[in-house]
Amino acid sequence: MERLDSLLLHRIDLLADPDDVSAVFANLHASGKVAAFGLSNASPAQVRMLAARVRVPLLINQVEINLDRIDALIDGTLDQCLERRISPQAWCPIGGVGYTAWGRFASPAQWRLVETELDRQAKRHSTDRVGINLAWLLRHPAKIVPLLGSTKPERIRAALASTTIPYSRDDWYNLYEARRGQAMP
Ligand SMILES: NC(=O)c1ccc[n+]([C@@H]2O[C@H](COP(=O)([O-])OP(=O)(O)OC[C@H]3O[C@@H](n4cnc5c(N)ncnc54)[C@H](OP(=O)(O)O)[C@@H]3O)[C@@H](O)[C@H]2O)c1
Repeated sequence: MERLDSLLLHRIDLLADPDDVSAVFANLHASGKVAAFGLSNASPAQVRMLAARVRVPLLINQVEINLDRIDALIDGTLDQCLERRISPQAWCPIGGVGYTAWGRFASPAQWRLVETELDRQAKRHSTDRVGINLAWLLRHPAKIVPLLGSTKPERIRAALASTTIPYSRDDWYNLYEARRGQAMP
């Protein structure tokens, strides 16, 4: 491959000098080997720091976002994506719903509420839990890109169909409140 569409700097090296990162990115960009740059699992502070020091725009931050792991919604990650027009890529996007996630962040009581709400919405929208899970991610204004992998064409087609679910603000908050285990204040 002569050229990468995008290159993500994964899990920022705490000992890396940002000027070195900047020089490498600038070289890769100038040589035409990489079109766009981003970060993977970067905190909002790391994005801010590197954006201030590297000379190419940072266009992507790839982080874990799913119904179990909702930190990105409240720790400033997605707010920063909106602020800087960074594209958030969600890894493990159906974690906890389609398959076991990395760890378990929701309590058993919160997860029971999530599953009850997923089933209620799936029935109403004629889809399944994964379809609702994806619609919930896609409803966020930061335009989350779910990184969903599958070897099964029917699962890929089903995932695509979730983009057409008329997913309302009420749907979104009902599921979010289920995950929180309490109503919004
Ligand atoms: N930045 C990071 O730290 C990080 C971490 C993890 C992953 N990633 C990236 O995320 C991308 C996707 O990763 P991934 O391929 O592991 O994707 P993934 O969607 O997280 O997991 C793929 C697995 O989910 C299953 N699956 C897909 N749809 C399903 C459904 N509807 N119901 C139940 N199971 C379902 C697949 O099984 P079938 O094949 O049988 O459908 C496959 O075993 C990759 O580019 C990877 O590099 C990044």
